[in-house]
Amino acid sequence: MDIRTIEWKNKSIKIINQTKLPLKLEYLYIKDLKTLWRAIKELKVRGAPALGAAAAWGVYLGIKDSKAKNFADFSKDLEKVAKYLASCRPTARNLFWGIERMCSIAVRNQQEPVSLIKKLLFKEAQKIIEEDRQTSRRIGRYGAKLIKDKDTILTICNAGILATIDYGTALGVIYKAKEEGKRLKVYACETRPLLQGARLTTWELKKKGIDVTLICDSMAATLMQQGKIGKVIAGADRIAANADTANKIGTYNLAVLSHYHKIPFYIAAPHSTFNLRIKTGKDIPIEERNSKEVTGLFFKRPITGRNIKVFNPAFDITPQHLITAIITDKGIIRPPFIKNIVKILK
Ligand code: MRU
Repeated sequence: MDIRTIEWKNKSIKIINQTKLPLKLEYLYIKDLKTLWRAIKELKVRGAPALGAAAAWGVYLGIKDSKAKNFADFSKDLEKVAKYLASCRPTARNLFWGIERMCSIAVRNQQEPVSLIKKLLFKEAQKIIEEDRQTSRRIGRYGAKLIKDKDTILTICNAGILATIDYGTALGVIYKAKEEGKRLKVYACETRPLLQGARLTTWELKKKGIDVTLICDSMAATLMQQGKIGKVIAGADRIAANADTANKIGTYNLAVLSHYHKIPFYIAAPHSTFNLRIKTGKDIPIEERNSKEVTGLFFKRPITGRNIKVFNPAFDITPQHLITAIITDKGIIRPPFIKNIVKILK
C-alpha cells in the first residue's frame, strides 16, 4: 500500500482526510493556515509524528507570502504563525518539535535575505518528511526483534501509516515483523470516543494483509485473561524524562492490565516525541475535547439524553514502572529509564 498521509503538492499541504476513513480515501489540499489549524483540531490529520510534519508545513505555509523585507519583520510574522499553530492541540510533543525546528532554521540563518530563509524553511519541512519515513522504519527494525513467529499483539488508537508519513511506529513494528516472514495476529482496540482503532488501524492493517481483529476497549481484560495476548504495543504523544508516557486515552488501562497479567507492554515512538525538559507525566498537558465526541458524533442519532455531563480527556499518562521498554529509532530503551533515555537518545 503506497499512500502518504501528508505531503506538499500543488502549492498546498496535501493530507488524507482521516475523518472520512474507512468509507472514503479523500485527499484535501490545504492552502491557508486557518484551514490547517481546523484540520488538525478536527483530526483530519492526526497522530504525533504526522502532526510534527503538518506543523512544519504549516510554518512554511504561514510565512511563504510574508511581505517582510528584513529578518526583524520576518521573525514577527514567523512568531505569529508559530504561536497560532502551537495553540491547536496541546499534548503531542511532535507538533511543538516541528514548529521549533522550523523556527530554529530561520534564526540560524537570520543574516540571509528573507527570500533565502523561506527556501530553507521549505527544504527543512521536506527534510522532516523524509526523516520521518526513515525514523519509522528504524523503529520497525528495532521493534521487530521483540516479535516472535505466531505472536499476538494488542494495540490501541492508530500508530501506523496514518499517524506518520507512510509507515508507523507501533504498527511499523508489526509491518517489519511481517516483512521478516513472521506470522502475526493483531487485536485492535476500537479506541473510544473517536474510534481511531476501529476506523483507521483495522483499515490499514487489512490493506497490509495483517490478520486483524477489532475489539471494544472494554474487552482487552478478557482477552488477556484467556491468554490470547502475547504483548501490547502502543504509540506515544509525549514522553517525559522519566519515561511516563502520554498516549490515547485507554493506553493506561492496557498498561495496568498488562502488569496484572504479566504481559510485556511496549511503547514505540521516535526521538521527537520525547520531552526531556518535562520531568514526569504530571507536567504533560492533556487535551480535553468536545463532549459531543462522546455523546454522539459517529452515530446516526445521539447516544445520550440532552445535557449529559461528559469528561472527555483525549490522552492518559502511563507511569514508567508499567512500561517494559520503549522502542525508538535510536534503539530499545529499558529501565532504568531516566539513565537509559539520556544514554540512548544522546
Ligand atoms: O488524538 P489522536 O488520534 O491524534 O491520538 C493519536 C495517538 O494517541 C497515537 O497513539 C500517538 O499519536 C502515536 S502515533 C504514532
